[in-house]
Amino acid sequence: MSGSPVIAIDGPGGAGKGTVSRRLASQLGWNLLDSGALYRLVALAGQRAGLAADDVSGHARVARSLQVRFGQDEGGREQVWLDGREVTAELRLEATGAAASRVAAWPDVRSAILEMQRHFARAPGLVADGRDMGTVVFPKADLKVFLTASPDERARRRHKQLKEKGLSANLAALSREIAERDLRDATRAVAPMVAADDAVVVDTTDLGIDEVVSRLLAMIRERCPGPR
Ligand code: DC
Repeated sequence: MSGSPVIAIDGPGGAGKGTVSRRLASQLGWNLLDSGALYRLVALAGQRAGLAADDVSGHARVARSLQVRFGQDEGGREQVWLDGREVTAELRLEATGAAASRVAAWPDVRSAILEMQRHFARAPGLVADGRDMGTVVFPKADLKVFLTASPDERARRRHKQLKEKGLSANLAALSREIAERDLRDATRAVAPMVAADDAVVVDTTDLGIDEVVSRLLAMIRERCPGPR
């Protein structure tokens, strides 16, 4: 690790990790690692390469040679390129999330992108969003947070997010997909989604984003003294 502070934010989908991590990184002026996007990109790259959904070594190979670029459009919205092609919208589809959860269960895929993730830990600091940030990728993180929310609330948030993006979504189907994905992510043999022993668990079911961000900022200021 570089010596710069690292904040690990883990938890299930729909708990608010993405929004909270982005807001924290932006307010602190720190780097952001969206590790879920990397697994989504491996799944997309596999599809592009015509790999069978169960081709473990093929996906590990694709993961080792992933050519990714993260950026922003003129309006400051996130943009992601895979091998020179913009894939931002495709990346956020529920189907891509489900495919990511499947490839993420394979140890060879996880080890292929481990070092790449650690390279995001650069000055002035890093907010790392994922499932195993505090347990595997950054075990010495300065602050580990496990964000959760009730399954119903998480399904409602995902539903709202998809609608806002103009994507169609069915709440009951989403609830089932989320439950399926949680189960796979939490029960896989390698790097399962679990709160690190030293993580602070924050239940966001009844909290707004502003409240969560300000609570976490207070914890970060306490753990990582410095001018900010
Ligand atoms: O956070 P997300 O929805 O973009 O993540 C997509 C999938 O990637 C998630 O279901 C499990 C996997 N993932 C993982 O295994 N480890 C991470 N650190 C991040 C995501």
